[in-house]
Amino acid sequence: MVAAKDCRSATLGALVAEDSRIANVLDTFKIDYCCGGRRTLAEAAQERHIGVDVLVSAIEKLRPRMGEDENREWASPEDLIRHIVDRHHRYVREMAPVISGWLAKIRDHHGARHPELEAVSDAFEALTADLSVHMLKEEHVLFPYVNALARASRTHDDPVTAPFGTVRHPVRAMEDDHRLAGLLMARIRLLTNDFQPPDDACRTYALCLAELARFERDLHRHVHLENHVLFPRAIELEDRTAPR
Ligand SMILES: [Fe+2]
Ligand SMILES: [Fe+2]
Repeated sequence: MVAAKDCRSATLGALVAEDSRIANVLDTFKIDYCCGGRRTLAEAAQERHIGVDVLVSAIEKLRPRMGEDENREWASPEDLIRHIVDRHHRYVREMAPVISGWLAKIRDHHGARHPELEAVSDAFEALTADLSVHMLKEEHVLFPYVNALARASRTHDDPVTAPFGTVRHPVRAMEDDHRLAGLLMARIRLLTNDFQPPDDACRTYALCLAELARFERDLHRHVHLENHVLFPRAIELEDRTAPR
């Protein structure tokens, strides 16, 4: 992981490889990280007549960076929920439109030789449309209830009444959504031959498939944290604190 202080001397290629969201930051400043990927951040800033600190601070705003904190212990459900929203929901919201734009571009340029790109694009649009509704349901319905349960259990306040009967209902609905998302992601993996760019792929094509592979890794980690860590904890909390 490139530390903040080393950002300036890291090459653009290394920075984007570490966290592809940095590609967005560089795009915003019209800095080419593909052909010019061997330049350091400081060199690129100088060429564009931008203060390197401006770039460093834009990159720092992406923290926590992908890959950090993956194996930590969660002090509380609130802590885990904050992590899920800040890391995984944010990644989906930031990268879905970028990948979607790349897919449209490569479908237009390479669709004649790679007709499967149409199906990849359709599957990705379906996946991200489903995920955006799904994340709103979590953020506005399920997660606030779990936070309230955790608070009540800590402070021994009155038990919280679930607006949906029991937390098992939204948990089951979220798990169904996760299954569907997993199927769509698996379809994309199959259609892209495990995200392998073909021999005639341009840089955007290769970048797009690499990001789709990262999208899958992020989705798997995200779903794992919810299905296997947060949801069982929510059920246990409710069993302990809900009115009987
Ligand atoms: Fe989520
Ligand atoms: Fe979820």
